[in-house]
Amino acid sequence: MAWSPLLPFLLVLLLQVPAEARASPLDTVLEGAAPCKAGYLCPQVSLGKPRPPPVNVSLYYEALCGGCRLFLVRELFPTWLMVYEILNVTLVPYGNAKEQNVSGKWEFTCQHGEEECKWNKVEACLLDQLTWNAAFLTIVCLEELDDMESNLKPCLQIYAPKVSPDAIMDCAMGDRGTQLLHMNAQLTDALEPPHENLWKTLASS
Ligand SMILES: *[C@@H]1O[C@H](CO)[C@@H](O)[C@H](O)[C@H]1NC(C)=O
Ligand SMILES: *[C@@H]1O[C@H](CO)[C@@H](O)[C@H](O)[C@H]1NC(C)=O
Ligand SMILES: *[C@@H]1O[C@H](CO)[C@@H](O)[C@H](O)[C@H]1NC(C)=O
Repeated sequence: MAWSPLLPFLLVLLLQVPAEARASPLDTVLEGAAPCKAGYLCPQVSLGKPRPPPVNVSLYYEALCGGCRLFLVRELFPTWLMVYEILNVTLVPYGNAKEQNVSGKWEFTCQHGEEECKWNKVEACLLDQLTWNAAFLTIVCLEELDDMESNLKPCLQIYAPKVSPDAIMDCAMGDRGTQLLHMNAQLTDALEPPHENLWKTLASS
């Protein structure tokens, strides 16, 4: 298996993020603490205060594009590790793919071939069937490594040990995978300003 040198580092960081860690450290400290009696020296926080809404970050990408992989693994993932409490990340695997209604069935053409359509569907199925954190961590794990095919199982074993790779592949190769990718096509096509296919633009200029 082609584990990159970055992986052990990522794993160490990842395993330190508790799945349910959504409470801020401040809340954890305040919870169960005796009421503060030091007047104006007491911390000026109200426990009932609603938190500001999280920052929405949506990544429209495709599974086998090198730039997308670098961005996901080296930019978005470390940022998420640092500030996941205030981020609402949405992943939309589809990118520069195209879809066509062939006698009532959606068929896809992907920039990096059939293989990419398959992995776009696998990632859409992970997002559909796992908790969001587990899906994100599994996708980062896959995108970080060269051989996605043989790494689906070990990546799932780390982040979603109860989910079998077969169940994910069944979803990806079946009607659910098609339906999920079609939904991602609609999200991508609805982008305002419209999604630009830089690859095509560069190729034709
Ligand atoms: C995030 O997106 C949701 C749904 O589109 C929207 O209701 C919310 O206002 C957005 N949050 C921010 C901070 O823009
Ligand atoms: C997070 O983003 C999703 C989709 O982009 C949106 O539907 C949802 O409302 C957002 N959640 C919050 C709390 O903004
Ligand atoms: C897809 O094509 C079928 C028949 O070719 C048609 O009945 C159906 O309405 C089409 N669906 C969409 C969403 O265009």
